[in-house]
Amino acid sequence: MKRALITGITGQDGAYLAQFLLEHQYQVYGTHRATSAVPGWRLQALGVAQDIAFVSLDLLDFENIVQVIRQVEPDEIYHLAAQSFVAKSFEQPLYITDVDAMGVTRILEAIRTINPTIRFFQASTAEMFGEVQISPQSENTPFLPRNPYGTAKLYGHWITSNFRDTLNIHASSGILYNHESPLRGEEFVTRKITKSLTQIKYGLQTTLELGNLEAQRDWGYAKDYVEAMWKMLQSETADNYILATGKTRSVKEFVEMVAQVLEIQISWQGQAENTVGIDAKTGQTIVTVNPNFYRPTETTVLVGDASKAQSKLNWQPKTSFEELVTLMTLADIEKVMQFRVNA
Ligand code: NAP
Ligand code: GDD
Repeated sequence: MKRALITGITGQDGAYLAQFLLEHQYQVYGTHRATSAVPGWRLQALGVAQDIAFVSLDLLDFENIVQVIRQVEPDEIYHLAAQSFVAKSFEQPLYITDVDAMGVTRILEAIRTINPTIRFFQASTAEMFGEVQISPQSENTPFLPRNPYGTAKLYGHWITSNFRDTLNIHASSGILYNHESPLRGEEFVTRKITKSLTQIKYGLQTTLELGNLEAQRDWGYAKDYVEAMWKMLQSETADNYILATGKTRSVKEFVEMVAQVLEIQISWQGQAENTVGIDAKTGQTIVTVNPNFYRPTETTVLVGDASKAQSKLNWQPKTSFEELVTLMTLADIEKVMQFRVNA
């Protein structure tokens, strides 16, 4: 049985990856912060919590990382743990650098010291492209990050490439575009929309406040993306790969698609921060714009070209935008129904 160590197993991707690796007969070890409750709701929702061995790990503590890797003796490490919320990174630039940038180096250095044959996956991000002028972006597009998160992740991406190229470590970096699911945190815009509009539909909430409705993202399904992470580590040679759908939609389009699934007809009035979304049937304002949710800097249109992953890993996303929005909304409807049963 192969052993995998997943950092950030309590997060969205950690949960789906754990499920995927267990289905592929791996022994799965997952790290969590000493202060975080495990197994957490996501692993429980997937019904895999009991099959995982949990270990406490602090990304700021090199000695602790060394001790965990010696104890687990993994064949593969999937490094997913990070402070991943872009909006918050503007408030915590020092901390995010330590966790999202230096944390990667600490793990790679521990691999080099303990066992250089351990295979390593780094969760990099489309945010590294930032103020990009080229669309779609490929692995060769220059990086211009626009926020502390993207900047810290770019360091993690480069150090992963360096350890691969100069020290011969099997270290791959996935340049991941936004990927979502019913397990997505509620602070991210997609889940905020599916949850809030569902609550509005069932009378549990009155309005949904959003930031920039015109922002565009390349949204895929998290379950599809974790399979590509695994494929990278099964490949004979390590490399960098874009994971994306190649299609982009606006936040407003996401709202409209969710409303369609919920059979709400939204009509838009006003411009920019004065935009409101009105339920055509009831006349109620159900979507408003709150500039507090605007970012100090917004990335331009991020859309990825995943043709390298398709040709070298035989990977492509299986789930369409419409399917993704539908499955997320149906999951939130299910939660409301459960809430009603328990109330
Ligand atoms: P997520 O749901 O936010 O999960 C992040 C994980 O990191 C959680 O397990 C969290 O543990 C852990 N974590 C947070 N801060 C930490 C810290 N200071 N020290 C140690 N662990 C910490 O993120 P995700 O969506 O699964 O994303 C997984 C990875 O892919 C992240 O590195 C993210 O930056 C990257 N990524 C994600 C996307 C996307 O669209 N989802 C796109 C590009 C890149 P706690 O339970 O302790 O909070
Ligand atoms: N969170 C949030 N809340 N975003 C909003 C809102 C709101 O109320 N209204 C509009 N947005 C816009 C943001 O300005 C941004 O342009 C877009 O919606 C997506 O925001 P998030 O869902 O917070 O995700 P993100 O794109 O900033 O970051 C995610 O994707 C990155 C990859 O591109 C995260 O998963 C990152 O960890 C990941 O690296």
